[in-house]
Amino acid sequence: MKIRNVVVAALAALTASAAFAQAKPEDQIRLRQGGLQLLAKNVGALAAVAKGDVPFNKEAVTARAEYVNMLAQDITSSGFGAGSDKGWQTRANPKIWSDAEGFKAAAGKLTAATAKLATVADLNGLKAAVSELQGTCKNCHDNYRDSSYH
Ligand code: HEC
Repeated sequence: MKIRNVVVAALAALTASAAFAQAKPEDQIRLRQGGLQLLAKNVGALAAVAKGDVPFNKEAVTARAEYVNMLAQDITSSGFGAGSDKGWQTRANPKIWSDAEGFKAAAGKLTAATAKLATVADLNGLKAAVSELQGTCKNCHDNYRDSSYH
């Protein structure tokens, strides 16, 4: 399917994970921010379905949810490497590295919620999964994202 190929190509370009982790800090920051933008766009599209603005189609929802899950895994596993706290404009709070356990837990909630999203069977399931997922975004942003770039 065409869309799926585009998605896979975009993902490969974004996150050949080793390259991501080894990238210079400024590149890693730009990659993670781009990844987070992609994540937000795709979660937004699923939220529009959950709200009833777009009809529920299980195949389309599942394909997008799987993509969201892959993005979430790559961003959290490789996007915040040591030394990427500065080098490009960033809102990453230093606690990401000083409280690595807490950050890992917040990241784990995101990936768990995106995995669940990929298993929804109907509109009600999607509503619950999107709402839980958005809670994990907010939780991490409240604790580990600054309000302005530095
Ligand atoms: C584990 C922590 C964590 C989770 C979970 C998380 N984010 Fe973020 N997010 C961050 C951090 C940290 C930044 C700041 C990154 C930077 O500026 O380098 C950020 C930045 C962003 C940005 C701005 C990127 C830019 O261009 O500067 C968007 C959009 C975003 N997040 C969306 C989301 C969405 C949507 C979710 C949930 C589906 C989510 N995030 C979940 C930590 C998280």
